[in-house]
Formats: sequence, C-alpha cells, structure tokens
Amino acid sequence: MYDAPKVILGIIVFLLLFTSPLWINIFGGQTSVKPNIQLPKDANECVYPTEYMKNYHMDLLNDWRDKVVRDNQRFLLKNGNFVDFRGKKMEMSLSHTCMKCHNNKSQFCDQCHNYLSVNPYCWDCHVAPKEGMK
Ligand code: HEC
Ligand code: HEC
Ligand code: HEC
Repeated sequence: MYDAPKVILGIIVFLLLFTSPLWINIFGGQTSVKPNIQLPKDANECVYPTEYMKNYHMDLLNDWRDKVVRDNQRFLLKNGNFVDFRGKKMEMSLSHTCMKCHNNKSQFCDQCHNYLSVNPYCWDCHVAPKEGMK
C-alpha cells in the first residue's frame, strides 16, 4: 500500500529542510558571537549599581557631559559635597573615570556594542586607554 523507501526519503528531505537554519548556522560561517565582557579585576563595584549601569550608562554619560560642558561642574555633587554614591570624590569623566576601571575598551564596551551594532562616536574625540600594555 505504502511505498516505504519514498516515505523514508520524504521524511529525510523534510527533516533536512526543517533543520536547515541550524546547518546554515553551523557550516555557513557567520554566527553572532555573544558578548564576553571583561570586568575590572581591581574593583568590584561600578559608580552606580550594576543593573542601573547595564541599562542607563548612556544616559549617565550624557548627564555627566552636560554638567561638565554646560555647567562647568566636574565633580558629582551630593548634599553639598562632590562625591559618588559611596561618598568618594569622583570626577565626571569618560576617560578619567569610566576608562580608569574599564581600561580595555575592546574587551568591555565594544563587546556589547558590536553585538548590538551600536557604534558610539565618542572615541572620535575622547581617548580610549592604550591596550595590550599589560
Ligand atoms: C571604580 C571602578 C569603576 C568605574 C569608575 C566605573 N566602573 Fe563600570 N563597573 C565596574 C565594576 C567592578 C563592574 C562590575 C560590577 C558587578 O559585577 O556587579 C562594572 C559594571 C559596569 C557595567 C555593567 C556590565 C555588566 O555586567 O553587564 C557597565 C555598562 C559599566 N560598568 C559602565 C561604566 C561606565 C560607562 C562608567 C563611567 C560612567 C563606569 N562603568 C565606571 C567598575 C567601575
Ligand atoms: C553590558 C553591555 C554593555 C557594556 C559593557 C557597555 N555598553 Fe554602552 N550600550 C549598551 C546598550 C544596550 C546600549 C543601547 C543601545 C541602543 O539603545 O541602541 C549602549 C549604548 C551606549 C551609548 C549610546 C550610543 C548611542 O549611539 O546611542 C554610549 C555612549 C555607550 N553605550 C557608552 C559605553 C561605554 C563608554 C562603555 C564602556 C565603558 C559601554 N558603553 C559599555 C550596552 C553596553
Ligand atoms: C566632537 C568631539 C566630541 C565628541 C564626538 C564627544 N565628545 Fe564628549 N567632550 C568633548 C569635549 C571637547 C569635552 C570637554 C572636555 C573637557 O572640558 O574636559 C567633552 C566632555 C565630555 C564629558 C565630561 C568630561 C570628561 O572628561 O569626560 C563626558 C562625560 C563626555 N564628553 C561624554 C561623551 C560621550 C559619552 C560621547 C559619545 C556619545 C562624547 N562625549 C562625544 C568632545 C566630544
């Protein structure tokens, strides 16, 4: 009644087609590489809680820039003192503060940004730390 070899062949062809995205991914070269960020070894806290930093670091940087460039205020002001959220004096600076701890742009900032295809133009002017020195 059934033509067994043809049915089996049909099933094989179907399975190959059905799973083809998988095979294209494995053998087709371009796969997306997940970000593999390198966190600072000599610090265990960021300037703000990690969840906030993950989601809002771009807003924080804009806010810092506005305070420095428009208000000429370089240190974070809290209760009349220039401090960060732990009470330490902190300069609002991309190169002097963020990149002091996150001193490997390609292993940190770029990891996420490349994955997301965002390309902040900041480095046209701001200096990223030298890499491969240690
Ligand atoms: C005192 C050192 C220090 C400074 C200064 C610093 N960071 Fe961080 N940052 C850290 C550490 C340590 C972590 C990881 C914290 C953790 O594991 O919870 C981190 C986490 C982050 C994360 C989240 C990464 C993740 O786990 O997904 C982002 C984004 C980030 N920082 C951006 C910045 C930016 C932008 C600045 C400047 C505005 C900055 N950091 C300043 C030490 C610092
Ligand atoms: C944990 C992942 C992650 C890390 C690490 C990270 N970023 Fe981002 N960054 C993002 C995401 C997500 C966006 C938002 C993309 C969007 O909204 O289109 C972003 C956007 C930005 C933007 C705004 C870009 C734009 O064109 O709007 C700036 C500026 C920025 N990041 C700076 C930094 C700097 C500086 C570092 C390293 C100190 C860093 N980021 C590290 C995930 C990250
Ligand atoms: C066209 C050049 C240029 C570009 C592009 C640029 N900046 Fe700036 N930025 C400046 C100049 C100039 C200052 C003032 C420097 C000073 O007075 O110390 C400044 C100051 C800042 C400051 C405060 C001072 C400091 O030391 O960091 C922050 C934060 C900042 N910029 C963030 C950013 C971010 C984030 C981006 C990318 C989204 C960016 N800038 C892109 C030129 C630029």
